[in-house]
Amino acid sequence: MPTFQTVRGMRDLIGEEAQVFTFIITKARQTAELYGFKEVITPHVEPLELLSAKSGEEIRQRMFIFKDLGERQVALRPEFTASVARLVTTAMRNEPKPLRLFSVGTVYRYDEPQKGRYREFWQSNFELMGSARPEADAEVILVTNNIMASLGMQGYAFKLGHIGVIKGILTQDGVDEKTQNTIFQRMDKKNYDEALQLIENQKTRSMLEGLIEIKGRDWQDTVTQIKNLAAEYPTAKAAAENLEEILKLITQSTNITVNVDAAFARGLEYYTGMIYEIYIPELEIALGGGGRYDHLIEAFGGQPTPAVGFAIGIDRVAIALQEQKAVISEKGTKRVAVTAITDNQKGDALKIAQQLRAAGIAVEFEVMGRKMAKALEDADKRKVDFAVIVGERELKEGTVVLKNLADRTQCTVAISELADKIKN
Ligand code: HAM
Repeated sequence: MPTFQTVRGMRDLIGEEAQVFTFIITKARQTAELYGFKEVITPHVEPLELLSAKSGEEIRQRMFIFKDLGERQVALRPEFTASVARLVTTAMRNEPKPLRLFSVGTVYRYDEPQKGRYREFWQSNFELMGSARPEADAEVILVTNNIMASLGMQGYAFKLGHIGVIKGILTQDGVDEKTQNTIFQRMDKKNYDEALQLIENQKTRSMLEGLIEIKGRDWQDTVTQIKNLAAEYPTAKAAAENLEEILKLITQSTNITVNVDAAFARGLEYYTGMIYEIYIPELEIALGGGGRYDHLIEAFGGQPTPAVGFAIGIDRVAIALQEQKAVISEKGTKRVAVTAITDNQKGDALKIAQQLRAAGIAVEFEVMGRKMAKALEDADKRKVDFAVIVGERELKEGTVVLKNLADRTQCTVAISELADKIKN
Protein backbone atom coordinates (compact mmCIF):
# COMPACT_ATOMS: atom_id res chain seq x y z
CA MET A 1 0.00 0.00 0.00
CA PRO A 2 1.54 3.37 -0.94
CA THR A 3 1.61 6.12 1.70
CA PHE A 4 -0.77 9.00 1.12
CA GLN A 5 0.17 12.66 0.64
CA THR A 6 -2.06 15.70 1.17
CA VAL A 7 -3.96 16.96 -1.87
CA ARG A 8 -1.84 19.45 -3.86
CA GLY A 9 -1.98 22.95 -2.37
CA MET A 10 -3.29 21.71 1.00
CA ARG A 11 -1.18 21.37 4.11
CA ASP A 12 -0.94 19.70 7.47
CA LEU A 13 -0.12 22.12 10.24
CA ILE A 14 1.83 20.46 12.98
CA GLY A 15 3.72 21.47 16.10
CA GLU A 16 4.80 25.10 16.16
CA GLU A 17 3.04 25.88 12.89
CA ALA A 18 -0.32 24.90 14.37
CA GLN A 19 0.53 26.95 17.47
CA VAL A 20 1.22 30.04 15.36
CA PHE A 21 -2.15 29.67 13.59
CA THR A 22 -3.92 29.36 16.93
CA PHE A 23 -2.08 32.43 18.18
CA ILE A 24 -3.21 34.48 15.16
CA ILE A 25 -6.80 33.24 15.45
CA THR A 26 -6.81 34.10 19.16
CA LYS A 27 -5.66 37.66 18.42
CA ALA A 28 -8.29 38.02 15.69
CA ARG A 29 -11.01 36.71 18.01
CA GLN A 30 -9.93 39.02 20.84
CA THR A 31 -10.01 41.95 18.41
CA ALA A 32 -13.50 40.91 17.26
CA GLU A 33 -14.66 41.03 20.86
CA LEU A 34 -12.98 44.38 21.47
CA TYR A 35 -14.75 45.95 18.48
CA GLY A 36 -18.16 44.35 19.07
CA PHE A 37 -18.10 41.69 16.32
CA LYS A 38 -20.10 38.52 17.04
CA GLU A 39 -18.88 35.20 15.69
CA VAL A 40 -20.92 33.26 13.12
CA ILE A 41 -20.11 29.78 11.85
CA THR A 42 -21.33 28.95 8.34
CA PRO A 43 -20.95 25.79 6.17
CA HIS A 44 -17.89 25.05 4.05
CA VAL A 45 -20.15 23.99 1.20
CA GLU A 46 -22.58 26.48 -0.34
CA PRO A 47 -24.77 26.59 -3.46
CA LEU A 48 -22.57 27.31 -6.48
CA GLU A 49 -24.92 30.07 -7.57
CA LEU A 50 -24.45 31.98 -4.30
CA LEU A 51 -20.66 31.80 -4.44
CA SER A 52 -20.32 32.70 -8.09
CA ALA A 53 -22.96 35.44 -8.33
CA LYS A 54 -20.90 38.53 -7.59
CA SER A 55 -17.45 37.24 -6.76
CA GLY A 56 -15.78 37.87 -10.11
CA GLU A 57 -14.24 35.91 -12.94
CA GLU A 58 -11.04 35.03 -11.16
CA ILE A 59 -12.75 33.39 -8.20
CA ARG A 60 -15.37 31.74 -10.42
CA GLN A 61 -12.63 29.97 -12.36
CA ARG A 62 -10.88 28.75 -9.25
CA MET A 63 -13.65 27.17 -7.23
CA PHE A 64 -13.80 23.55 -6.13
CA ILE A 65 -17.16 22.70 -7.71
CA PHE A 66 -19.03 19.43 -7.53
CA LYS A 67 -22.47 17.88 -7.71
CA ASP A 68 -23.65 16.31 -4.47
CA LEU A 69 -25.51 12.99 -4.51
CA GLY A 70 -28.79 14.90 -4.76
CA GLU A 71 -27.56 16.48 -8.04
CA ARG A 72 -27.12 19.90 -6.43
CA GLN A 73 -24.39 22.13 -7.88
CA VAL A 74 -22.31 23.12 -4.86
CA ALA A 75 -18.81 24.43 -4.16
CA LEU A 76 -16.32 24.79 -1.33
CA ARG A 77 -16.45 28.41 -0.12
CA PRO A 78 -13.65 30.53 -1.68
CA GLU A 79 -14.29 33.30 0.91
CA PHE A 80 -16.74 34.20 3.69
CA THR A 81 -18.43 37.31 2.37
CA ALA A 82 -21.08 35.56 0.23
CA SER A 83 -22.02 33.23 3.11
CA VAL A 84 -22.34 36.09 5.60
CA ALA A 85 -24.38 38.13 3.09
CA ARG A 86 -26.66 35.09 2.65
CA LEU A 87 -27.14 34.96 6.43
CA VAL A 88 -28.23 38.59 6.48
CA THR A 89 -30.90 37.89 3.85
CA THR A 90 -32.25 34.84 5.71
CA ALA A 91 -31.80 33.85 9.39
CA MET A 92 -30.47 37.27 10.44
CA ARG A 93 -32.70 39.40 8.24
CA ASN A 94 -34.57 40.96 11.17
CA GLU A 95 -31.50 41.66 13.31
CA PRO A 96 -31.06 45.33 14.14
CA LYS A 97 -28.37 47.15 12.16
CA PRO A 98 -25.50 47.71 12.23
CA LEU A 99 -24.50 44.06 12.28
CA ARG A 100 -20.91 43.23 13.09
CA LEU A 101 -20.02 39.65 12.18
CA PHE A 102 -16.79 37.72 12.57
CA SER A 103 -15.81 34.31 11.11
CA VAL A 104 -12.70 32.21 10.96
CA GLY A 105 -11.92 29.00 9.09
CA THR A 106 -10.60 27.47 5.90
CA VAL A 107 -11.51 28.64 2.41
CA TYR A 108 -10.66 27.04 -0.95
CA ARG A 109 -9.31 28.37 -4.23
CA TYR A 110 -7.65 26.43 -7.03
CA ASP A 111 -4.64 28.79 -7.11
CA GLU A 112 -1.20 27.73 -8.35
CA PRO A 113 0.55 26.66 -5.11
CA GLN A 114 3.61 28.67 -4.08
CA LYS A 115 4.86 30.46 -0.96
CA GLY A 116 1.83 32.19 0.58
CA ARG A 117 -0.56 30.76 -2.00
CA TYR A 118 -2.42 27.56 -1.19
CA ARG A 119 -5.59 25.81 -2.32
CA GLU A 120 -6.83 25.45 1.22
CA PHE A 121 -6.04 28.46 3.37
CA TRP A 122 -7.35 30.19 6.47
CA GLN A 123 -9.12 33.51 6.71
CA SER A 124 -10.30 35.57 9.61
CA ASN A 125 -13.19 37.61 8.24
CA PHE A 126 -15.05 40.70 9.47
CA GLU A 127 -18.21 42.24 8.03
CA LEU A 128 -19.90 45.45 9.21
CA MET A 129 -23.37 45.69 7.68
CA GLY A 130 -26.00 48.40 7.63
CA SER A 131 -24.00 51.64 7.43
CA ALA A 132 -22.96 53.57 4.33
CA ARG A 133 -21.07 56.16 6.37
CA PRO A 134 -17.28 56.62 6.34
CA GLU A 135 -17.21 55.84 10.07
CA ALA A 136 -17.98 52.21 9.18
CA ASP A 137 -15.12 52.08 6.65
CA ALA A 138 -12.83 53.63 9.26
CA GLU A 139 -13.91 51.07 11.87
CA VAL A 140 -12.99 48.04 9.73
CA ILE A 141 -9.61 49.55 8.89
CA LEU A 142 -9.03 50.11 12.61
CA VAL A 143 -10.01 46.48 13.30
CA THR A 144 -7.39 45.35 10.77
CA ASN A 145 -4.87 47.69 12.34
CA ASN A 146 -5.64 46.32 15.80
CA ILE A 147 -5.02 42.73 14.68
CA MET A 148 -1.69 43.66 13.11
CA ALA A 149 -0.58 45.65 16.15
CA SER A 150 -1.65 42.98 18.63
CA LEU A 151 0.37 40.38 16.69
CA GLY A 152 3.42 42.60 17.08
CA MET A 153 3.71 43.07 13.30
CA GLN A 154 6.34 45.65 12.35
CA GLY A 155 6.34 48.20 9.53
CA TYR A 156 3.02 47.24 8.01
CA ALA A 157 1.21 49.66 5.71
CA PHE A 158 -2.26 49.99 4.24
CA LYS A 159 -2.71 50.38 0.51
CA LEU A 160 -5.95 52.24 -0.10
CA GLY A 161 -8.02 53.11 -3.11
CA HIS A 162 -11.64 53.70 -4.08
CA ILE A 163 -13.27 51.66 -6.80
CA GLY A 164 -16.01 54.34 -6.98
CA VAL A 165 -13.52 56.77 -8.53
CA ILE A 166 -12.69 54.46 -11.45
CA LYS A 167 -16.29 53.24 -11.77
CA GLY A 168 -17.56 56.83 -11.74
CA ILE A 169 -15.32 57.77 -14.68
CA LEU A 170 -15.99 54.64 -16.72
CA THR A 171 -19.77 54.74 -16.16
CA GLN A 172 -20.05 58.44 -17.04
CA ASP A 173 -18.15 57.73 -20.26
CA GLY A 174 -20.48 54.86 -21.16
CA VAL A 175 -18.26 51.83 -20.51
CA ASP A 176 -20.58 48.89 -19.77
CA GLU A 177 -20.38 46.93 -16.51
CA LYS A 178 -18.98 43.76 -18.04
CA THR A 179 -16.10 45.63 -19.67
CA GLN A 180 -15.54 47.52 -16.42
CA ASN A 181 -15.17 44.23 -14.54
CA THR A 182 -12.64 42.97 -17.10
CA ILE A 183 -10.73 46.24 -16.77
CA PHE A 184 -10.64 45.83 -12.96
CA GLN A 185 -9.34 42.26 -13.31
CA ARG A 186 -6.48 43.53 -15.50
CA MET A 187 -5.75 46.42 -13.15
CA ASP A 188 -5.76 44.08 -10.14
CA LYS A 189 -2.94 42.19 -11.88
CA LYS A 190 -1.24 45.53 -12.72
CA ASN A 191 -1.65 44.76 -16.42
CA TYR A 192 -2.43 48.44 -17.05
CA ASP A 193 -1.67 48.30 -20.79
CA GLU A 194 -4.16 45.49 -21.27
CA ALA A 195 -6.72 47.41 -19.22
CA LEU A 196 -6.22 50.56 -21.29
CA GLN A 197 -6.62 48.62 -24.53
CA LEU A 198 -10.18 47.76 -23.51
CA ILE A 199 -11.14 51.45 -23.54
CA GLU A 200 -12.04 52.90 -26.93
CA ASN A 201 -12.62 56.52 -25.92
CA GLN A 202 -9.33 58.49 -25.90
CA LYS A 203 -10.48 60.86 -23.14
CA THR A 204 -11.50 58.00 -20.86
CA ARG A 205 -8.19 56.32 -21.54
CA SER A 206 -6.22 59.43 -20.58
CA MET A 207 -8.29 59.74 -17.40
CA LEU A 208 -7.29 56.22 -16.45
CA GLU A 209 -3.67 56.95 -17.36
CA GLY A 210 -3.89 59.95 -15.06
CA LEU A 211 -5.19 57.80 -12.18
CA ILE A 212 -2.39 55.25 -12.69
CA GLU A 213 0.13 58.02 -12.02
CA ILE A 214 -1.43 59.09 -8.71
CA LYS A 215 -0.02 57.22 -5.72
CA GLY A 216 1.92 58.00 -2.58
CA ARG A 217 2.18 58.26 1.18
CA ASP A 218 0.98 61.85 1.44
CA TRP A 219 -2.73 61.09 1.42
CA GLN A 220 -3.84 64.71 1.42
CA ASP A 221 -1.80 65.37 -1.69
CA THR A 222 -2.92 62.24 -3.54
CA VAL A 223 -6.59 62.78 -2.72
CA THR A 224 -6.37 66.38 -3.92
CA GLN A 225 -4.85 65.15 -7.18
CA ILE A 226 -7.67 62.64 -7.65
CA LYS A 227 -10.31 65.30 -6.94
CA ASN A 228 -8.71 67.65 -9.46
CA LEU A 229 -8.45 64.97 -12.13
CA ALA A 230 -12.08 63.97 -11.62
CA ALA A 231 -13.38 67.56 -11.54
CA GLU A 232 -15.76 66.94 -14.47
CA TYR A 233 -16.93 63.57 -13.17
CA PRO A 234 -19.31 64.26 -10.25
CA THR A 235 -19.72 60.62 -9.11
CA ALA A 236 -15.99 59.96 -9.26
CA LYS A 237 -15.30 63.22 -7.42
CA ALA A 238 -17.79 62.31 -4.68
CA ALA A 239 -16.01 58.97 -4.34
CA ALA A 240 -12.67 60.78 -3.91
CA GLU A 241 -14.27 62.95 -1.20
CA ASN A 242 -15.56 59.83 0.52
CA LEU A 243 -12.02 58.39 0.47
CA GLU A 244 -10.77 61.66 1.94
CA GLU A 245 -13.30 61.45 4.80
CA ILE A 246 -12.21 57.90 5.61
CA LEU A 247 -8.52 58.82 5.53
CA LYS A 248 -9.19 61.80 7.79
CA LEU A 249 -10.96 59.60 10.33
CA ILE A 250 -8.33 56.86 10.46
CA THR A 251 -5.31 59.16 10.55
CA GLN A 252 -6.94 61.30 13.25
CA SER A 253 -7.68 58.36 15.50
CA THR A 254 -4.51 56.30 15.23
CA ASN A 255 -0.97 56.16 13.98
CA ILE A 256 -1.31 54.36 10.71
CA THR A 257 0.77 54.19 7.53
CA VAL A 258 -1.30 54.59 4.39
CA ASN A 259 -0.37 54.49 0.71
CA VAL A 260 -3.06 55.86 -1.54
CA ASP A 261 -3.16 54.27 -5.00
CA ALA A 262 -5.76 55.85 -7.28
CA ALA A 263 -5.70 52.96 -9.81
CA PHE A 264 -5.94 50.25 -7.17
CA ALA A 265 -8.48 47.52 -8.04
CA ARG A 266 -9.20 44.18 -6.34
CA GLY A 267 -10.17 40.86 -7.90
CA LEU A 268 -13.66 40.68 -6.36
CA GLU A 269 -16.55 42.13 -8.37
CA TYR A 270 -18.84 43.17 -5.53
CA TYR A 271 -16.81 46.17 -4.32
CA THR A 272 -18.42 49.58 -4.73
CA GLY A 273 -16.36 51.93 -2.56
CA MET A 274 -13.15 52.16 -0.55
CA ILE A 275 -10.86 49.15 -0.99
CA TYR A 276 -7.65 48.25 0.81
CA GLU A 277 -4.90 45.70 1.34
CA ILE A 278 -2.22 45.35 3.94
CA TYR A 279 1.49 44.73 3.36
CA ILE A 280 4.82 44.44 5.17
CA PRO A 281 8.12 45.40 3.47
CA GLU A 282 9.47 41.82 3.67
CA LEU A 283 6.69 40.29 1.53
CA GLU A 284 5.17 41.20 -1.82
CA ILE A 285 1.88 39.45 -1.17
CA ALA A 286 -1.07 41.02 0.67
CA LEU A 287 -1.65 39.86 4.26
CA GLY A 288 -5.29 40.86 4.08
CA GLY A 289 -7.74 42.93 2.14
CA GLY A 290 -11.25 44.22 1.98
CA GLY A 291 -13.54 47.04 1.07
CA ARG A 292 -17.05 48.38 0.75
CA TYR A 293 -19.77 46.48 -1.11
CA ASP A 294 -23.12 48.23 -0.95
CA HIS A 295 -25.23 46.09 -3.34
CA LEU A 296 -24.39 42.46 -2.56
CA ILE A 297 -27.06 41.83 0.07
CA GLU A 298 -29.71 43.34 -2.20
CA ALA A 299 -28.45 41.18 -5.08
CA PHE A 300 -29.03 38.14 -2.86
CA GLY A 301 -32.67 39.17 -2.35
CA GLY A 302 -32.23 41.07 0.91
CA GLN A 303 -33.14 44.62 1.91
CA PRO A 304 -30.75 47.22 0.46
CA THR A 305 -27.93 47.03 3.03
CA PRO A 306 -24.64 48.86 2.60
CA ALA A 307 -21.69 46.89 3.98
CA VAL A 308 -17.94 46.92 4.41
CA GLY A 309 -15.52 44.22 5.51
CA PHE A 310 -12.17 42.51 5.14
CA ALA A 311 -10.34 39.24 5.61
CA ILE A 312 -6.89 38.51 6.95
CA GLY A 313 -5.00 35.66 5.27
CA ILE A 314 -3.84 33.68 8.29
CA ASP A 315 -1.34 31.54 6.33
CA ARG A 316 0.33 34.71 5.06
CA VAL A 317 0.31 36.41 8.45
CA ALA A 318 2.07 33.30 9.80
CA ILE A 319 4.75 33.70 7.10
CA ALA A 320 5.04 37.40 7.96
CA LEU A 321 5.56 36.64 11.66
CA GLN A 322 8.26 34.16 10.70
CA GLU A 323 9.96 36.69 8.38
CA GLN A 324 9.99 39.22 11.21
CA LYS A 325 11.17 36.60 13.70
CA ALA A 326 8.34 37.58 16.00
CA VAL A 327 8.05 35.90 19.39
CA ILE A 328 4.63 34.33 19.38
CA SER A 329 4.52 32.52 22.71
CA GLU A 330 2.36 34.24 25.25
CA LYS A 331 3.19 33.64 28.87
CA GLY A 332 1.58 30.23 28.91
CA THR A 333 0.46 27.92 31.66
CA LYS A 334 3.10 25.74 33.32
CA ARG A 335 3.35 22.20 31.92
CA VAL A 336 3.76 19.27 34.25
CA ALA A 337 4.30 15.52 33.76
CA VAL A 338 2.75 13.36 36.49
CA THR A 339 4.14 9.84 36.95
CA ALA A 340 3.58 7.08 39.51
CA ILE A 341 6.63 5.09 40.59
CA THR A 342 4.73 1.80 40.50
CA ASP A 343 1.27 0.73 39.36
CA ASN A 344 0.12 0.82 42.99
CA GLN A 345 0.21 4.64 42.99
CA LYS A 346 -1.35 5.29 39.60
CA GLY A 347 -4.82 5.97 41.03
CA ASP A 348 -3.40 8.57 43.45
CA ALA A 349 -1.24 10.00 40.67
CA LEU A 350 -4.29 10.50 38.43
CA LYS A 351 -6.13 12.19 41.32
CA ILE A 352 -3.20 14.58 41.80
CA ALA A 353 -3.15 15.25 38.03
CA GLN A 354 -6.84 16.20 38.23
CA GLN A 355 -6.21 18.54 41.18
CA LEU A 356 -3.46 20.33 39.24
CA ARG A 357 -5.62 20.64 36.11
CA ALA A 358 -8.42 22.10 38.24
CA ALA A 359 -5.89 24.72 39.36
CA GLY A 360 -5.17 25.62 35.71
CA ILE A 361 -1.91 23.71 35.35
CA ALA A 362 -1.39 21.71 32.13
CA VAL A 363 -0.72 18.07 32.99
CA GLU A 364 0.54 15.25 30.79
CA PHE A 365 -0.29 12.11 32.73
CA GLU A 366 1.90 9.04 32.20
CA VAL A 367 -0.21 6.67 30.08
CA MET A 368 2.54 4.39 28.73
CA GLY A 369 3.37 2.62 32.00
CA ARG A 370 7.08 3.40 31.52
CA LYS A 371 9.82 3.17 34.12
CA MET A 372 10.51 6.47 35.89
CA ALA A 373 13.81 7.19 34.07
CA LYS A 374 12.21 6.72 30.64
CA ALA A 375 9.20 8.85 31.56
CA LEU A 376 11.47 11.68 32.79
CA GLU A 377 13.66 11.49 29.69
CA ASP A 378 10.53 11.85 27.56
CA ALA A 379 9.21 14.76 29.66
CA ASP A 380 12.56 16.47 29.10
CA LYS A 381 12.29 16.05 25.33
CA ARG A 382 8.82 17.52 25.36
CA LYS A 383 10.16 20.58 27.22
CA VAL A 384 7.80 20.08 30.16
CA ASP A 385 8.54 22.45 33.09
CA PHE A 386 8.13 20.05 36.04
CA ALA A 387 7.80 16.35 36.76
CA VAL A 388 5.64 15.24 39.71
CA ILE A 389 6.77 11.83 40.98
CA VAL A 390 4.21 9.93 43.05
CA GLY A 391 5.79 7.26 45.29
CA GLU A 392 4.53 5.05 48.08
CA ARG A 393 6.69 6.48 50.87
CA GLU A 394 5.85 10.14 50.07
CA LEU A 395 2.14 9.39 49.69
CA LYS A 396 2.00 8.08 53.25
CA GLU A 397 3.16 11.54 54.37
CA GLY A 398 0.81 13.40 52.02
CA THR A 399 3.69 14.55 49.79
CA VAL A 400 5.17 14.01 46.31
CA VAL A 401 8.54 14.76 44.69
CA LEU A 402 8.58 17.84 42.47
CA LYS A 403 11.42 17.93 39.95
CA ASN A 404 12.27 21.11 38.05
CA LEU A 405 13.34 19.86 34.62
CA ALA A 406 15.02 23.11 33.66
CA ASP A 407 17.53 23.31 36.51
CA ARG A 408 17.35 19.64 37.61
CA THR A 409 16.62 20.50 41.25
CA GLN A 410 14.02 18.55 43.18
CA CYS A 411 12.20 18.78 46.50
CA THR A 412 9.46 17.11 48.49
CA VAL A 413 6.19 19.08 48.52
CA ALA A 414 2.91 18.60 50.41
CA ILE A 415 0.17 17.65 47.91
CA SER A 416 -2.00 20.43 49.32
CA GLU A 417 0.67 22.99 48.39
CA LEU A 418 1.74 21.47 45.07
CA ALA A 419 -0.29 23.69 42.72
CA ASP A 420 0.89 26.90 44.42
CA LYS A 421 4.48 25.74 44.40
CA ILE A 422 4.35 24.99 40.63
CA LYS A 423 2.68 28.28 39.80
CA ASN A 424 5.21 30.30 41.75
P1 HAM B 1 -9.20 38.45 -0.74
O1 HAM B 1 -8.29 39.62 -0.99
O2 HAM B 1 -9.57 37.62 -1.91
O3 HAM B 1 -10.51 39.07 -0.08
O4 HAM B 1 -8.59 37.51 0.36
C1 HAM B 1 -8.20 38.03 1.62
C2 HAM B 1 -6.82 37.51 1.98
O5 HAM B 1 -6.76 36.09 1.91
C3 HAM B 1 -5.70 37.95 1.04
O6 HAM B 1 -5.27 39.26 1.34
C4 HAM B 1 -4.63 36.93 1.36
O7 HAM B 1 -3.92 37.29 2.53
C5 HAM B 1 -5.44 35.68 1.63
N1 HAM B 1 -5.39 34.79 0.45
C6 HAM B 1 -6.03 34.93 -0.72
N2 HAM B 1 -5.76 33.90 -1.55
C7 HAM B 1 -4.90 33.09 -0.88
C8 HAM B 1 -4.26 31.85 -1.19
N3 HAM B 1 -4.44 31.21 -2.33
N4 HAM B 1 -3.43 31.30 -0.24
C9 HAM B 1 -3.25 31.92 0.94
N5 HAM B 1 -3.85 33.07 1.29
C10 HAM B 1 -4.66 33.67 0.39
C11 HAM B 1 -11.60 38.31 0.30
O8 HAM B 1 -11.59 37.11 0.38
C12 HAM B 1 -12.80 39.13 0.67
N6 HAM B 1 -13.89 38.21 1.00
C13 HAM B 1 -12.49 40.05 1.85
C14 HAM B 1 -13.66 40.88 2.23
C15 HAM B 1 -14.50 40.68 3.28
N7 HAM B 1 -14.11 41.94 1.56
C16 HAM B 1 -15.19 42.41 2.17
N8 HAM B 1 -15.42 41.63 3.20
